Amino acid sequence: MKIVIIGGTGHIGTYLVPRLVERGHEVVCVARGARDPYTASGAWRSVGRVSIDRAKEEKAGSFGGKIAAMRPDAVIDLICFTLASAAHIVEALRGKVQHFLSCGTIWVHGHSTVVPTTEEEPRKPFGDYGIWKADIERFLLGEARLRGFPATILHPGHIVGPGWVPLNPAGNFNPKVFETIASGGELTLPNLGLETVHHVHADDVAQAFCRALERRSAAVGESFHVVSPAALTLRGYAERVSQWFAVEPRLSFLPWDQWKATVSAEDAAATWDHIAHSPCCSIDKARRMLGYEPRFTSLEAVRESVAALMDRSSEGTGASATRR
Ligand SMILES: NC(=O)c1ccc[n+]([C@@H]2O[C@H](COP(=O)([O-])OP(=O)(O)OC[C@H]3O[C@@H](n4cnc5c(N)ncnc54)[C@H](OP(=O)(O)O)[C@@H]3O)[C@@H](O)[C@H]2O)c1
Repeated sequence: MKIVIIGGTGHIGTYLVPRLVERGHEVVCVARGARDPYTASGAWRSVGRVSIDRAKEEKAGSFGGKIAAMRPDAVIDLICFTLASAAHIVEALRGKVQHFLSCGTIWVHGHSTVVPTTEEEPRKPFGDYGIWKADIERFLLGEARLRGFPATILHPGHIVGPGWVPLNPAGNFNPKVFETIASGGELTLPNLGLETVHHVHADDVAQAFCRALERRSAAVGESFHVVSPAALTLRGYAERVSQWFAVEPRLSFLPWDQWKATVSAEDAAATWDHIAHSPCCSIDKARRMLGYEPRFTSLEAVRESVAALMDRSSEGTGASATRR
């Protein structure tokens, strides 16, 4: 197939684009051209790279037309964040593509009710990001059901991979948390440390997109969680990371209001966002309908990412590892 991937040089695209090329697809990657994939792969030599700024072209009303003019069989939209963006591209691609895959987020669920959360749970998103992603999901599923638009939505968890800082056991992105644990220092966690995070390796997200493309008839009109087999509690996560460094975990706990005063405003905001959601999602549906089988547990994915950070900092190039 000819597949246009919008936003294909980031976390997901780094793995997805080579996977698509290896399967013999003709791949066109649309991005502004401001960055390269995290990991080099020879597959990129056969990828058409088109420089388009989605925000600018949407303002001009021309983004969807430009994608349609590439005459793709399938479009993978990794960077849709508003209902208006979704409506614009669907209008341009209606009747012109066999499959349209959109990247959502497990934050469409808001806080968890019955865990592991299934795709059938009613959406209760909070925060602009989750609310807007839930709007996009509702719109795309409605388009599929009512007007035959061939949409599939994949909802990743916290995406992990070598080259960027993983969500840490304190629920934020401060790499010092890993240093504190590794050196046997005391790590203070909010509340009882029993809130959850649900990671996924970027390559497993890529796997899910490939499987959805391959099982088009099962995937169209559906949304799927794409996460590791199981979520982690913050406390359990910290304890396992201690084991990697052969140190005894030294954990302490503070109620949220006191804890947030012990970290920067940025870290507190990130932690709050993550623990307020405390995701724990089921992958039964993706396993059953798509044959999705994650290669990485959460801890395996994070361990690979932390090892890459350590390699880079020992090479003196730590800055690139923290670009996001
Ligand atoms: N990161 C997570 O933990 C996480 C978790 C759940 C869901 N998600 C979802 O995953 C998707 C993002 O995937 P990702 O993490 O792989 O993305 P990413 O690493 O942030 O990469 C973004 C990609 O989009 C391109 N891009 C950014 N702005 C653009 C613009 N205005 N016009 C054209 N291209 C643009 C970037 O290249 P240029 O900069 O060169 O344009 C790059 O290729 C989103 O839908 C997000 O909601 C992410």
